[in-house]
Amino acid sequence: MSDSTQQITVPREVRLASRPVGWPTQEDFNLVTSEIAELADGEIRVRNEVMSVDPYMRGRMSDAKSYAAPYELDEAMTGAAVGVVEESRSDKVSVGDHVLHGLGWREVAVMPADEARVVDTSVASASAYLGMLGMTGLTAYAGLTRIAQIKEGDVVFVSGAAGAVGSMVGQIAKALGASRVIGSAGSADKVAHVVDDLGFDAAFNYKDGPVAPQLKEAAPEGIDIYFDNVGGEHLEAAIGALREGGRIAICGAISVYNNTEPAPARATWPA
Ligand SMILES: NC(=O)c1ccc[n+]([C@@H]2O[C@H](COP(=O)([O-])OP(=O)(O)OC[C@H]3O[C@@H](n4cnc5c(N)ncnc54)[C@H](OP(=O)(O)O)[C@@H]3O)[C@@H](O)[C@H]2O)c1
Repeated sequence: MSDSTQQITVPREVRLASRPVGWPTQEDFNLVTSEIAELADGEIRVRNEVMSVDPYMRGRMSDAKSYAAPYELDEAMTGAAVGVVEESRSDKVSVGDHVLHGLGWREVAVMPADEARVVDTSVASASAYLGMLGMTGLTAYAGLTRIAQIKEGDVVFVSGAAGAVGSMVGQIAKALGASRVIGSAGSADKVAHVVDDLGFDAAFNYKDGPVAPQLKEAAPEGIDIYFDNVGGEHLEAAIGALREGGRIAICGAISVYNNTEPAPARATWPA
């Protein structure tokens, strides 16, 4: 996104040029200039400052049936963003307000004021409303409390532990009384970050070797909750490590989002 002090006269937006097959490439996207539309009554014009790039967007680039509508080709993509209001024809939102809304992937967005929510950037940064105070924080909290029904003393394992959701899961689990929180991540730096900065009890790098033995070492007595962000091998290993009464919150399966064939859904149970 552009420097927030810079006045944009010719804003740009990112459009989906083609539906990626496997891993997306730069050719699947176009960066184009767009017109600044005149405001109708009740509308606001927002200069975006931060936007969120989320794994669910990969699903929307495909036209397969899903819970969210596919992105249209040759149209600006959408997604959560926070920006500052530059012009308002609404009584509800004033020039200078920061708003959270769904028209990311563009420098300037025009929308009905009812589709934006004013946020207070004096108490938290604009990006916090896209993370811990936004969709990913809510996902972590709801997954742990409503789906996995965390209780004091649980041993919790979370994959994608350094990601937006996973990093919140580990910290919320500790705050709710988990006896041990274990994370997996894809680099030594991320492993150090979740333990040293976020307070996880243990973590391992899933790229160092198979997940099951590394999980067994971190949780020799097994786990009560698995919060799944990645699916695949992690899910198999976690099923094998579950104690009696264990629960799994299936939040996402990022390890298979670029697959062109369905991933096998097998499970390895302990012998
Ligand atoms: N159900 C819902 O309402 C909901 C809402 C939000 C998110 N989600 C899901 O939650 C998951 C995490 O989302 P997020 O917003 O936290 O995304 P994020 O911040 O982009 O984090 C995703 C993490 O996934 C890891 N990853 C990528 N490829 C992987 C692979 N092949 N195997 C293992 N890990 C891999 C990456 O970490 P490493 O570098 O450590 O590999 C990355 O940090 C996604 O599956 C997403 O779809 C679900």
